[in-house]
Amino acid sequence: MPSKALIAGLAGAAAVLVIGGSVVGDRLLSRRQMHERVAVMTGGEPGQGEAAIQSRACGGCHVIPGVSGARGKVGPPLTGFAGRVYIGGRASNTPANLVAWIQDPHAIDPQSAMPNMGIGEAEARDIAAYLLTLN
Ligand code: HEC
Repeated sequence: MPSKALIAGLAGAAAVLVIGGSVVGDRLLSRRQMHERVAVMTGGEPGQGEAAIQSRACGGCHVIPGVSGARGKVGPPLTGFAGRVYIGGRASNTPANLVAWIQDPHAIDPQSAMPNMGIGEAEARDIAAYLLTLN
């Protein structure tokens, strides 16, 4: 016969597992839901966008959370970008404007110091999707 203490201990461990498991489950789900949401908003894929940001070296000019080595100080930090009201202080931060900005900032602000990097629409959609996961 197992002792009462052992039973109580096992029940406690099971409760911790259940609670811990559901927290992890919720996190995974909300991350996935977030990715689905930004994919619908932009027509892009945030994982591809992260890779594109890495290969385009946007981090040379911007701090970008989740992108290793992205510590540049030429442009504003893109931390919490999904909550930003304006892009470049000019256009409303809508998915369409963001895709346009990434393709050609000067189309939105001719005076902008951010260079046109020759990015095509599909890649810009992926990058926009990633930036809109930053909240
Ligand atoms: C040579 C430096 C430089 C590079 C490289 C660069 N940017 Fe920028 N970026 C800037 C500057 C400067 C601004 C601010 C421009 C303005 O306000 O007119 C800016 C602004 C932005 C903004 C608007 C931020 C806000 O809060 O309004 C976004 C989004 C952005 N950049 C994304 C990118 C992405 C994505 C890349 C890579 C594809 C990139 N940038 C590469 C310099 C750069």
